[in-house]
Amino acid sequence: MKKTSAAGSRSTRPTSVKSARPTWRATGSIPATLIPGDGIGPEIVAAVVDIMKAAGAPFVWERHEGGMAGIKKHGDPLPPKLIDSIRRTGLALKGPLATPVGGGYRSVNVRLREEFSLYANVRPVRTMVPGGRYEDIDIVLVRENVEGLYVAWEHYLAIGDDPHAVAISSGVNTRAGSRRIAEFAFDYAVKNSRKKVTIVHKANVLKALTGIFLETARDTGKKYAKKLTVDDRIVDACAMQLVLNPWQYDVILTTNLFGDILSDEIAGLVGGLGMAPGANIGEKAAIFEAVHGSAPDIAGKGIANPLALLLAGCLMLDHVGRPVVARRIRRAIDLALKQDGIRTPDLGGRHKTRDFVKAVIGNLGTR
Ligand code: NAI
Repeated sequence: MKKTSAAGSRSTRPTSVKSARPTWRATGSIPATLIPGDGIGPEIVAAVVDIMKAAGAPFVWERHEGGMAGIKKHGDPLPPKLIDSIRRTGLALKGPLATPVGGGYRSVNVRLREEFSLYANVRPVRTMVPGGRYEDIDIVLVRENVEGLYVAWEHYLAIGDDPHAVAISSGVNTRAGSRRIAEFAFDYAVKNSRKKVTIVHKANVLKALTGIFLETARDTGKKYAKKLTVDDRIVDACAMQLVLNPWQYDVILTTNLFGDILSDEIAGLVGGLGMAPGANIGEKAAIFEAVHGSAPDIAGKGIANPLALLLAGCLMLDHVGRPVVARRIRRAIDLALKQDGIRTPDLGGRHKTRDFVKAVIGNLGTR
């Protein structure tokens, strides 16, 4: 599909995020926590570490297991040593962590976001492989990351001999939390030369839970009226419009659950989950990861696409004030995809993870 209208003219500009720790030095090494994760995690993390090293990234990795790998090694999906390491470094690159569906332990991803108050989830997506369903996509989704329905205050009520006859879940959105994420999204938009922020909600039905979010975000947006266009949309209409005319969107600001769902949809516009990086930002720490999960169906086959995690690594470089290295990697990715035609099977190619690593490293020196 071709572009029918644009929110603003943009290309490959940096996607810097509000700094949680504005004190990273411009030179020298930077300690960072590395979580290989589950499923394809170790394969794509190894790929990204190799490319980062070849590109001259400053990170000195402290490696710690979490998720299923944490259980295997330490009997704990979120070992205290992992938490201590992030507390020390304030910075982590994380492979996907598996979460049991239904019962079992609570999502380690959600617990990490809560532990470090990583209230902002930034998910930038743009078209990198031409010839797909949609050209020229360039959308950033900013998701509130610690409130909403993901607080998971859930319980069952028993009726008769069925202990799980009724399931109840409460969502929590606060005015302070809504203002904090709204300010983050508007500041991000201004800093990254974006033109428009769309607030996405369901305040027509969830009048209190998402009403407070809409009302606070609209109010916060008034301060930015000279620099940005601010509008809003109900989540179901937004989901449909993302398929019909995604170019009308620039920055989307939304609540936790809607952000989780819409960011997968946006990744689908540009070739799937293998293309979508994410940054979880708080005041004292930031964790960078791919939007996708542990992909158990392809784990160990050597065909996982490391691009989303590599792009998350580029966001991490921007975050610590090393945009030159990030730019070098992004350029090498573009050349590997477009000039060399190196693509993993999820992008319609036949190449392996290591072919992509080799191609990106080979293009790092190219001007
Ligand atoms: P998934 O994202 O792991 O996989 C969905 C589909 O996309 C699969 O067909 C998979 O092969 C494909 N895919 C995902 N990443 C890919 C990549 N890099 N290259 C090529 N193909 C890729 O979602 P699913 O199957 O629902 O979840 C699996 C596990 O991951 C679950 O335990 C879930 O809880 C966890 N998960 C973890 C996340 C995180 O750590 N941030 C996020 C989402 C899910």
